Amino acid sequence: MIQKPEQQEPKHDDKTTSRARTLDLRPKRFDEYIGQEQVVTTLRIAVEAAKQRGDVLDHILFYGPPGLGKTTLAHIIAHEMDVPLVHTSGPALEKGGDLISILTHLGNGSVLFIDEIHRLPKIVEEFLYSAMEDFAVDIIFDKGMNARSYRAKIEPFTLVGATTRAGLLSPPLRERFGIQRSLDFYTPEQLMNVIKRSALLLEVAIEDAAAVEIARRSRGTPRIANQLLRRVRDYAQVCANGVITHQVSVEALALEGIDALGLNHLDIRFLSTIIDNYKGGPVGIEAVAATLQEETDTLIDMVEPFLLKAGLVIRTSSGRRATELAYNHLKKPGYRKTTQQLSIPSTS
Ligand code: ADE
Repeated sequence: MIQKPEQQEPKHDDKTTSRARTLDLRPKRFDEYIGQEQVVTTLRIAVEAAKQRGDVLDHILFYGPPGLGKTTLAHIIAHEMDVPLVHTSGPALEKGGDLISILTHLGNGSVLFIDEIHRLPKIVEEFLYSAMEDFAVDIIFDKGMNARSYRAKIEPFTLVGATTRAGLLSPPLRERFGIQRSLDFYTPEQLMNVIKRSALLLEVAIEDAAAVEIARRSRGTPRIANQLLRRVRDYAQVCANGVITHQVSVEALALEGIDALGLNHLDIRFLSTIIDNYKGGPVGIEAVAATLQEETDTLIDMVEPFLLKAGLVIRTSSGRRATELAYNHLKKPGYRKTTQQLSIPSTS
């Protein structure tokens, strides 16, 4: 079946010449959001309850791998609460003053979204405690003998924090979030629905079989699904008749270097390094990072979660091991079963 976009009036501002490129595919309302059903139900109830009471929404922490919708949900929350959102990130807030300046300018009920909140410097994090709990900031004047502190009230606000590593958050900060939810990888069916919705917004026709193909190769991640869809759409436009058929999707994805499981070059280098350089493991992540000349954090945040989920690596007490599935997938000989197959939970 081919899903064809309806012929319709341009929905977007004609001043934007690169409309399709800049078109934001992310949902703006809970009704448009696909997946993470339990999280969405919790949020819908919390939002509705806060609105009924005329209250500010509780602070919310989202954690999970990148691209699963943490930022999107923060924006939806602000939209549904009908309040402004201020977007910042842990590394951007270097000094206490950076945060105080944002906090003192927030309007009543606003959402402050802090991405990568685990990277907030400790000195900045400490200002958040009273801000979250008492809607107040303690400003210190002078130093040493002359140091004086002044408590300034701020408008009640909702902090939405996002992190790929909940384990790195200090307990005092984590405990101040009334709602804490992890976001899971999407199923291929959910991703297929995301892709079909996005194709409608991009006004491109797509076969169901093509949507399935892109979904299968999107590493359980809507952001990747939408990125791949845009590349396949380009390919369909330039190298075919504009319709995303199954054949077009397969050719375009091969060109992108995405394999049948959705693994990209870095995933394959990661697995091949463990297999070729470390006899399949166990090997510490730092050793793999050094061999690949990549940041350890990049591997932990961006590469490993999906490989773990897909059963291509396991974490053992003595390091990472490539599984039989990884050997088979990469067509590598030499898989050795060991007695130590006990996997340990991820620390993220
Ligand atoms: N685009 C990206 N993420 C999405 C989601 N969860 N639902 C619908 N469209 C999306």
